[in-house]
Amino acid sequence: MAHLPPVDTFDYIVFGGTGDLTMRKLLPALYHRYRDGQIPEDSRIIGTARSPLSRAEYQQRAQAALGEHVKPDALDDATVQRFLNMVYYVSLNGAEADSDWPALKTLFGDASTSRIRVYYLATSPALYGQICENLSREDLITAQSRVVLEKPIGTDLASAEAINDSVGRHFPENHIFRIDHYLGKETVQNLIALRFANPVFERLWSCDAIDYVQITAAETVGVEGRGAYYDRSGALRDMIQNHLLQVLCLVAMDPPVSLEADAVRNEKLKVLRALKPISADDVAIYTSRGQYARGTIGDKTVGSYLEDLGEGVTSETETFVALKAEILTWRWGNVPFYLRSGKRMAEKCSEIVIQFKSAPWSIFSNRPEPNRLIIRIQPDEGVMLCVSTKDPTPTDSLTLRDADINVEFEKAFNIRYPDAYERLLLDVVRGDPILFIRRDEVAAAWRWIDPILQGWKERKAPLEPYAAGTWGPEGARNLLSQSGHLWHEDMKK
Ligand code: BG6
Repeated sequence: MAHLPPVDTFDYIVFGGTGDLTMRKLLPALYHRYRDGQIPEDSRIIGTARSPLSRAEYQQRAQAALGEHVKPDALDDATVQRFLNMVYYVSLNGAEADSDWPALKTLFGDASTSRIRVYYLATSPALYGQICENLSREDLITAQSRVVLEKPIGTDLASAEAINDSVGRHFPENHIFRIDHYLGKETVQNLIALRFANPVFERLWSCDAIDYVQITAAETVGVEGRGAYYDRSGALRDMIQNHLLQVLCLVAMDPPVSLEADAVRNEKLKVLRALKPISADDVAIYTSRGQYARGTIGDKTVGSYLEDLGEGVTSETETFVALKAEILTWRWGNVPFYLRSGKRMAEKCSEIVIQFKSAPWSIFSNRPEPNRLIIRIQPDEGVMLCVSTKDPTPTDSLTLRDADINVEFEKAFNIRYPDAYERLLLDVVRGDPILFIRRDEVAAAWRWIDPILQGWKERKAPLEPYAAGTWGPEGARNLLSQSGHLWHEDMKK
């Protein structure tokens, strides 16, 4: 790894410090950045949570988390020990005024008011306002303080606005970092490079040449012990409102005037505001929702969503959603953007498929397939362009055969692809908000999502079961077939 410039010394205070996100993502990400020399040794990572743990016990948990979530070749005892020396713990209920705030204050000491302080809220979003109020009352918000808000921000527009108002009373907007880890994924950032550094793509990037676009985030995992949260959320709120709409923005936005954060965010906002509303009455036309039933993934039989939730539980929460979005602009007139995401699907795969229009006429005996550009977000980040070439098999006529121009970034650049959080956590320290979501983006996304939620609540679209290990319910296929379109996996057949 090339030498990366270190960031300034910081204190990272994580509320929800014993939680799954902290253990699985935040600590491993900070460890990698530390190992690459980007984090000064006198920085501190301070976990806070209600559990009465000693510092040593918390360090042990952190060490176990690294053991589990960092690849063995990146773990060496000396580096792990030095990293753990930066880890502290304060037993504190961030939402309660009379909790042990003095312990946190003592840990900060006087010297640290000048250093960068990041409050990372990895708790239930319902507590964000309360935590910020307590920080403010305890006089813990310095000029150098920032706050990071994990998604989901709210469950609809009204609750999101309430959270943003309550946080906004204590932090200025440019110190609020609303994280969407999809924006930290290399290939998602790479969309900006691919689109705006390669005129060959940008000249074709409109309804003139593009037939339709698909954005998929499919997972094979189920709800993995997060049933209580997930059942209140569902796939639309958990994945589409944030991750997939953000990716859609990067695919569809106009070129920003610069790489300055607001220049990019202004363009994204324009896309969100140009989304054609899907009214509650139209959800059956534009959306498909499903819930996984028992099925097989690989060679493993897995239970249904309801079984995963626990015995005797009923639920109408969707674990799959597909929808047809349209962007009302000159660039995108009549180009559907199909978004879908689901749990317990056939493969773990996040990708963007740009389906170009067919050739207007063919001089060949077999018709060329339309070109297709596939941007793989995960796994195996890369870009593939599907083209027609001459079939090399000896025949008496010139016939066509499909071929792929394929770049796999990890192989091409021979570098470990960092986890999305690695970039984002240090961007907060750097104070660079380009990959974070501005308040008006959150509001615009909810404004578009709310009527869909309403239509579903009124049961205007069926909740279809789909067998685990498949690509979702039949309704998702119908959503495309009515326009003569196919999902990517159906094209491959
Ligand atoms: C999270 C969702 O934001 O993203 C999870 O809450 C989901 O339900 C996860 O599993 C998917 O992230 P990734 O990076 O694995 O695609």
